[in-house]
Amino acid sequence: MEKFKGNKVVLIGNGAVGSSYAFSMLNQGACDEFVIIDLDERKAKGDAMDLNHGVVYAPSPMQIRYGTYEECNDAVLVVICAGAAQKPGETRLDLVGKNMKIFKSIVDEVMKSGFDGIFLIATNPVDVLTYAVQRFSGLPENQVIGSGTILDTARFRHLLSEEFDVSPNSVHGYIIGEHGDSELAVWSGTNIAGKSLYDILNENPEKQSRIEEIFVNTRDAAYEIIKAKGATYYGVAMGLMRISKAVLNNENVVLTVSAKLNGEYGHDDVYIGVPAIINRNGIREVLETPLNEEEKAKFTKSVQTLKDIQSPFFE
Ligand code: 2OP
Repeated sequence: MEKFKGNKVVLIGNGAVGSSYAFSMLNQGACDEFVIIDLDERKAKGDAMDLNHGVVYAPSPMQIRYGTYEECNDAVLVVICAGAAQKPGETRLDLVGKNMKIFKSIVDEVMKSGFDGIFLIATNPVDVLTYAVQRFSGLPENQVIGSGTILDTARFRHLLSEEFDVSPNSVHGYIIGEHGDSELAVWSGTNIAGKSLYDILNENPEKQSRIEEIFVNTRDAAYEIIKAKGATYYGVAMGLMRISKAVLNNENVVLTVSAKLNGEYGHDDVYIGVPAIINRNGIREVLETPLNEEEKAKFTKSVQTLKDIQSPFFE
């Protein structure tokens, strides 16, 4: 990507998730130019001003400003957090009609600028909207990434780390599938320092019921947070930052993101949360983590859930 001399990131949608992402970008100093696009120009300008007052104390210099879609032309990364968010009682899939329309007009505007970088999508239902962005933009599939189950995997590792009193960095496990109610834990591959969770449970059978609760609390965490404070934003912002850094720094790191399947896990024509290698070109490769029969069946059900939602829009 010769065109991209700098590390410019454009944020579209400066709501709770977008502005939390902007704040973590400043704190982590991962880009050198950060542009905010939002229908609410006044608030976006106010946020740009506010963020600029933190630059002197940030790890590295960053130009931050309100901007327009033309600015996407030389961006490495365009991050979309725009759209309607879940209200208490709504599922992520309930948002599809509203957000699909908003996304068509956003992606058209971005593509008019001549953008040829990486799209990163956070808006729900994230897997379906990531699929939509790839279809609307016509960009190669590797250049379109959804936040997928990056947050669910973080929630899972956090809860396991509390249960076993080890850092989440030393707990290895993935949540895959839809970022939503049909997701699943890959229990068969979950381990702490290489010791399988199954072996740990054989030695500590009293933990079995706790483990089941951990999955339910992972899957339903957003409902609890939305009930408590109206929306979720810090966790997802950190997940978006992790993916952004993987792209900007060409990391080749494995993260659970929403990626396009082309035969992996026996499925295609769907974007869904799976472990994938992320670098400056976006999704370098989808990894097929081993699944047992039960996990395979749950994954297939999750694929079907997403296809049933997306197919009426793309026939
Ligand atoms: C979350 O999981 C609502 O998708 C959002 O926090």
